[in-house]
Amino acid sequence: MKLNLKFLCLTSLILLLMSCTASSTSNPTPTPWPEQFHALLYMNLSDARLQLSDLWYDWPRGRNVNIFTRQLIGDILYDVEWDNGTSYYFTLEPNPTCRAMEFGVGIPRPDFLNDANYLGTQVTDGFLCHVWEKVDFIWYYEDVITKRPVRWDFYDGISSHVITYEVGAVLPDSVTQAPALCFNQDDHKAIATSFK
Ligand SMILES: *[C@@H]1O[C@H](CO)[C@@H](O)[C@H](O)[C@H]1NC(C)=O
Ligand SMILES: *[C@@H]1O[C@H](CO)[C@@H](O)[C@H](O)[C@H]1NC(C)=O
Repeated sequence: MKLNLKFLCLTSLILLLMSCTASSTSNPTPTPWPEQFHALLYMNLSDARLQLSDLWYDWPRGRNVNIFTRQLIGDILYDVEWDNGTSYYFTLEPNPTCRAMEFGVGIPRPDFLNDANYLGTQVTDGFLCHVWEKVDFIWYYEDVITKRPVRWDFYDGISSHVITYEVGAVLPDSVTQAPALCFNQDDHKAIATSFK
């Protein structure tokens, strides 16, 4: 009788442990972004045009930078987003342009996907991934084994595929400085239309 009880306790303990591991693997949470990283992204835009983006995420410096190269257009478009809600989109010589924009929100926190909905696993770009969705805004694919992001899609049809992923890489400050043009109200108004 005593032995039986012991056995029962042991089996219920094992069952409990098993259900704990089962529920934690069936509902994984996304790996937080490293505080600083550089990723080269292959992007398929909503009109199926392609571009590359050098993404430099830097939480301690409060900035998120995308440097876009559009396929066979050749200009380099800088998108420097600051955590205070200001973003600068600019091109440099020989065709300098700038558009400054105020957004109500800052850059994504490293754990911005914490409350995303888990959708299960899926193979994308040849990698087995966990997939999450957040507020019908982003669909995020993370490699099951390496925990690196593989792909994310936005609601507007833009799909980004991670080609390289360097944790800890930091963009020099000089690259993030918006040109003087951005701070001249008249110029910036005149130039704004050339972006459309
Ligand atoms: C880009 O996305 C569109 C729409 O999903 C798709 O039809 C097209 O094949 C994609 N192009 C490339 C090069 O991945
Ligand atoms: C936010 O920070 C950037 C970079 O330091 C600066 O240029 C911009 O004026 C700031 N915006 C606001 C609203 O303070």
